[in-house]
Amino acid sequence: MRLTVIGTGYVGLVSGVCFSELGNDVVCVDKVSAKIDMLNKGRIPIFEPGLEELVQKNKNEGRLRFTTDLTGAVHDSDIIFIAVGTPSLPSGEANLSFIEQAAEEIGRSMNGFKVVVTKSTVPVGTNEKIRNIIQQHTTCLFEVASVPEFLREGTAVQDTLYPDRIIIGTSNDTARKWLTKLHTPLTDNIIVTDIRSAEMIKYASNAFLATKISFINEIANICEKVGADVTQVAFGMGSDKRIGPSFLNAGIGYGGSCFPKDTQALIQIAGQMDYDFKLLKSVVEVNRDQRFNMLRKLEAILGDLRSKTIAIWGLAFKPETDDVRDAPAFEIISALLRKGAVVRAYDPIAADNFKNHFQGAVEYCVSAQKAAWHADALCILTEWKEFCDTSPSVIQSWLKQPNLIDGRNIYSEEDLAGTELNYYSIGRPNMN
Ligand code: UGA
Repeated sequence: MRLTVIGTGYVGLVSGVCFSELGNDVVCVDKVSAKIDMLNKGRIPIFEPGLEELVQKNKNEGRLRFTTDLTGAVHDSDIIFIAVGTPSLPSGEANLSFIEQAAEEIGRSMNGFKVVVTKSTVPVGTNEKIRNIIQQHTTCLFEVASVPEFLREGTAVQDTLYPDRIIIGTSNDTARKWLTKLHTPLTDNIIVTDIRSAEMIKYASNAFLATKISFINEIANICEKVGADVTQVAFGMGSDKRIGPSFLNAGIGYGGSCFPKDTQALIQIAGQMDYDFKLLKSVVEVNRDQRFNMLRKLEAILGDLRSKTIAIWGLAFKPETDDVRDAPAFEIISALLRKGAVVRAYDPIAADNFKNHFQGAVEYCVSAQKAAWHADALCILTEWKEFCDTSPSVIQSWLKQPNLIDGRNIYSEEDLAGTELNYYSIGRPNMN
């Protein structure tokens, strides 16, 4: 099939590349010519394991092109995917201006029947708006559909090529047939819904996963008080098929470009319909507070943090990505600086994206050891493999005071055996 994907962010780029890997002819379009130039040289503007190799392979085999020419791409395609950003407005609402702009340009570029598919996360009713905008700019026939994306950063290629399910929201037969044919090589589990339900499935899924995380984080906080171990509790709970084991890792709260934005947007969507989504508001509040769990521990150990050297391991919102959007590290480091601490930070790949936020105030180190060297405490904020592979006894030898606060529960009692670390984690009894 001949496809255009508009937007070369995480969703657009990964989807476009994976569709070409399936044998389709794909043109990826972006307004930012620097990004297109880079992609045309076979390099990718984001860090995503396995993606660069797939870009090079499919480009070389002639199935994948990158361009700034939206009109030319639309002319040559049957299906057009909109995968542009929908950042949050100050109110929490999704900003749809990039979507509206893309719809207008598609409308102006139409030269025959096309199916226009939204992959971006958009409020319920947006696909109808897109239909109206396109209609205002063309006399050609077309159909719209919503096919929300469920990929995770860091495992985006795997998630796209082996999805749990594909949701196709459309009420049109041609769109359903074309989109089913396109996605059939990926999974048997294709669920066709009306457009509004498809739009809602995306928000509801992310809100539910965020709820699971805030739930287990509150259980962790209670475990700390009653002397239980949240990892054992989560394992026991997750073994019930109705609950499931995923997204029950307690920690310092969720971050990233999706959960914080989508939970706020769903609260707004509900609010606009006069519905007070109390549960989701609490999920957001619990998440905000969970960031400070580790600071409370730090103060309990060190007292006043003024002039204390605190090492931070991990700035990305999760491992295997250089994305720092809404990373817990921002709030934790800001609070440490407010309290007068000296902060030294290290991340294997995300530091460059973080640096301009605390210019001069934070020392960014080139290695985990440099950050931890003679510090009064080390805080682990991201569960990078490099940290999991570093033995606690080595960490102890680097620190001035043996205080380790593990915000991601990466070490076991066995790992700590023989050390004299004051080890604090999330929702687990003191192990040392
Ligand atoms: C999330 C969803 O998982 C994807 O299905 C969705 O497509 C994507 O948002 C999106 O809407 O585009 P992502 O933000 O890449 O994907 O990352 P996740 O792996 O879901 O992690 C999100 C945050 O939750 C991270 O900060 C992670 O550390 C945290 N988390 C996750 C926990 O604290 N505990 C867990 O058990 C799981």
